[in-house]
Amino acid sequence: MKLTIIGTGYVGLVTGACFAEVGHHVTCVDNNAEKVKLLQSGGIPIYEPGLDELVARNVAAGRLRFTHSTKDGVDNSDIVFIAVPTPPQPDGSVDLSFIESVAREIAAAMTSYKIVVDKSTVPVKTGDKVAETIKRYCKAHADFDVVSNPEFLREGFAVEDLMKPDRIVIGVRTQRPVAAMREVYAPFNAPIIVTDINSAELIKHAANSFLALKISYINAISVICEASGANVIEVANGIGLDARIGRRFLDAGLGFGGSCFPKDLSAFIKISEQLGYDFALLKEVQRINAAQMDRFLKKITDTLWVLKDKKIGVLGLAFKQNTDDVRLSPAIELCQRLLKDGASLRVHDPKAMDKAKDILKPGPAITYVEDMNAVADGCDALVVATEWPVFKKLDLDRARKSLTHPILFDGRNLFDPQEMEQLGWIYKSVGR
Ligand code: UGA
Repeated sequence: MKLTIIGTGYVGLVTGACFAEVGHHVTCVDNNAEKVKLLQSGGIPIYEPGLDELVARNVAAGRLRFTHSTKDGVDNSDIVFIAVPTPPQPDGSVDLSFIESVAREIAAAMTSYKIVVDKSTVPVKTGDKVAETIKRYCKAHADFDVVSNPEFLREGFAVEDLMKPDRIVIGVRTQRPVAAMREVYAPFNAPIIVTDINSAELIKHAANSFLALKISYINAISVICEASGANVIEVANGIGLDARIGRRFLDAGLGFGGSCFPKDLSAFIKISEQLGYDFALLKEVQRINAAQMDRFLKKITDTLWVLKDKKIGVLGLAFKQNTDDVRLSPAIELCQRLLKDGASLRVHDPKAMDKAKDILKPGPAITYVEDMNAVADGCDALVVATEWPVFKKLDLDRARKSLTHPILFDGRNLFDPQEMEQLGWIYKSVGR
């Protein structure tokens, strides 16, 4: 099929590449001319495992191309996907101006029937607005259908999640676009759920909020584990084996961050409020998440006492493993708070150092270290802030010798407390 994706961020670019991989002909549109140039010359603006080969292979096969012209994209496809950012606003609601302007651009370019699919995460009832907008701005009065098709990919595992989805959700107002949407997704062999548009939009917010709730739940349990001498990993394993609960998203730590959960929770709380419901449960999820960081920082200050003039090594800057994304990263927040208390930092991340430098400017108080094993050099303590699996391979012997005293604060429970103690570490983790 001929498909167009508008927006080449994490969702748009990976979706476009995966659609091409299964044989569709895909045009990716972005209004950022520099980004389009980079993509046309074989560059990839984000780090996502497997994405570079996927893009290269499909561009070479003639199934994937990039343009900055929406008209070009609309003219050359039957289905147009919108995958543009929906950033948060200060009051917690989402800024839908990118969606609105893309809807107008599509409308202006449309001369024949198109299916316009929203993939961006949006509050319930956005589909109706998109349809109204297209109708109003389409001078050619072309026929169209609006579809909501939320995306469930995780950064760092995006290609895998897209190629092997748990489910595909298709929200429609009429049955007319259903057959074409089924055809788009047929090669992925996943269950397809067809709903009304509002339900599809709600499924996305409800799923992300539930996952965030799971994380806050286990983080709350971690507090009880610490107070009672239990081990949160054992509790998570024990409850996770119940198929009704499931083990995934039960890793206690510094709390969730990134460009999705925090924003989607606030947006869902806001839209619920507008619809007349006080979603206090989700407000508590937010509160627990914030408290988790406070509690971890308290562990650091309880142990190191005064942070002024202390040097701390930090492993991890990305908001999670396998990504270079630092948006609302708990690791960055941790660094900012340590710096505010007067500590100086030696930091490392396998992929996110360049992006982190835009937020945490290198200077006397912050040194970026290329080799993770050199981070501890001359430090008073080491902190694990992101769950990169490679940190488990840290040269612990070298780190122990380079630190003033072997102290490790493990915000992601990567190491085993007993082993660390046997190796002579003062080791503090979460919920153990
Ligand atoms: C999340 C959802 O998992 C995706 O399904 C969804 O498509 C995406 O948002 C989106 O809305 O676009 P993502 O934000 O990429 O994906 O990353 P997650 O793997 O969900 O992790 C989010 C945060 O939760 C990270 O900071 C991670 O460290 C934290 N986390 C995750 C935990 O603290 N514990 C866990 O057990 C799992």
